[in-house]
Amino acid sequence: MKHGCLFLVASSLFASNSNIIAYASSVRGALASSESEMTGSSNSRRPFAANDVLTCRVTVVGTMLDINDDRSQANQDEQISCIPIVDEKELDNVFPLDLPAKVLAVHMSSIERASLYVAVKGAYVTEDQLVVSDKAAYEVFNELPGHLRRLEEQRRDLFTTGTKTLGVVRISTTDAQPMFSAAQLEDGIFGNGLKNDGVTVVSQYEECSFGKLKWGKTREGVVDIKVNQSIKSFKSASDLVTAVQKQIKAERGISTVASLGDKVLMCLPPGTGSWAASAGVGHWRAQFNNEWCLSLTGLVHELGHTMSLGHSAEDGIEYGDVSGMMGYGRRNANGPRKCFNGYNNFRLGWYSDRTMKVDPSTSPRVYKLATFVDYDKTNSKEPVLINVGDEYFLQYNRAKAFNSGTEEKQNLLTVTTDTANTSGSTNLGGFRSGETFNKVSNYQSSRKRLVVKVCDQISGNGSSPDALMVSIGLDGSACGQVQQPDDKPSFSIDKAIILTAAKTTKI
Ligand SMILES: *[C@@H]1O[C@H](CO)[C@@H](O)[C@H](O)[C@H]1NC(C)=O
Ligand SMILES: *[C@@H]1O[C@H](CO)[C@@H](O)[C@H](O)[C@H]1NC(C)=O
Ligand SMILES: *[C@@H]1O[C@H](CO)[C@@H](O)[C@H](O)[C@H]1NC(C)=O
Repeated sequence: MKHGCLFLVASSLFASNSNIIAYASSVRGALASSESEMTGSSNSRRPFAANDVLTCRVTVVGTMLDINDDRSQANQDEQISCIPIVDEKELDNVFPLDLPAKVLAVHMSSIERASLYVAVKGAYVTEDQLVVSDKAAYEVFNELPGHLRRLEEQRRDLFTTGTKTLGVVRISTTDAQPMFSAAQLEDGIFGNGLKNDGVTVVSQYEECSFGKLKWGKTREGVVDIKVNQSIKSFKSASDLVTAVQKQIKAERGISTVASLGDKVLMCLPPGTGSWAASAGVGHWRAQFNNEWCLSLTGLVHELGHTMSLGHSAEDGIEYGDVSGMMGYGRRNANGPRKCFNGYNNFRLGWYSDRTMKVDPSTSPRVYKLATFVDYDKTNSKEPVLINVGDEYFLQYNRAKAFNSGTEEKQNLLTVTTDTANTSGSTNLGGFRSGETFNKVSNYQSSRKRLVVKVCDQISGNGSSPDALMVSIGLDGSACGQVQQPDDKPSFSIDKAIILTAAKTTKI
């Protein structure tokens, strides 16, 4: 990747939600360039040995795109990568990995969920690079050997609730530093926010999860680290991160940078290209480029990746769903305030005691769907998330309070689903009172059409939730029909993430 594409640093960056400064440049290449990893200090290379076998947990590194970026790049910004496993531990550095097409064809789904383990015969890893022979052979483990099973149990991306710590590393070089001081980062993440309005990534997660996921700081707060080299001496952002990790470990006598927090946020100075932010799906670390270090959408989005969420698509655009946090981002430090779409909320599990599973193949029926924003006002018969046949997820996207900044489908019923073979989701539409979602003509091979119609909208008050009355069924709607009250709420508490165990495949 090229250097010299410095950010436009302007004082007006955080003026308002709508004040977005556009820049056109290549995001790919930041932490997504195989060239940068493969051309590390070549003197650390050696000839291959017969017993060179490297085990990797395979994931994708997702890069965030600015909402005003060139959208034609959007489909290139997931880089399949190796988290090397040596001596039964995951190493800190993540390297791009080219897998054979056959492996990709069969295993894309588990790669996207960061749960595929591969042994590469004819590969080794050094301090700063992954070296793979042209003649490498790949073996995929789906039935994990004992030591990998232990690692799997320890995987740190599987939590979505609890009180967890964020390690923050502020990185400077001899000639460049992030625009935010360590004190600003600390206040902007854990304190009252850069704009002094209380809006931070920590407050947003706490509100969106109704206190189920709380991020706290570590004892040492923001780690300010300076590498004794110029910014131009690093070929890429990942080269800089690699050098910083080495220095942190040496200075602190720790064996892994992962020990700095449950998740570790790295704030990089300008000068490594014009990427915004990135993180490995199901990995503990996220990277932010200069002003993106305090972007609310950037921080929430990348932490979403570390908890295994993929991008939210819409109309075939990978980042197109901006109703929630897993689509395009903005640089603003204090907005837009929004949460996650229905499918992602299902995976995060925060509303599991207000998630109703519906089988539409019985006759059409009307359900009261409260908005998740009023979760704390619901009773046990008022779901905030409806799971239709484990395939379609309904949520009332009320634009108020901590979701007041939702950027589309405001105050509508949203229908989301998972994107096949990825960790991502797709927004299928937003519907107001009287409108119907009826695009699925052969629901789960029933040869019947799924019909989801918004019958009515209900305004809540200080003690009752805003809600929609929604008819769900096949080939028809029950809006306006008299029906028996359903006094048996069927809430499900299942999680969507299921790690599959299949047999070992040799390629
Ligand atoms: C998902 O993967 C399966 C098996 O790997 C494949 O048969 C299917 O066509 C894929 N679906 C999509 C939409 O890519
Ligand atoms: C930084 O690097 C320069 C040149 O390589 C060297 O002269 C200097 O002593 C180094 N400073 C520190 C603090 O290590
Ligand atoms: C709020 O709305 C509920 C349901 O419509 C109603 O039972 C309750 O009396 C209302 N409470 C207030 C304070 O208006």
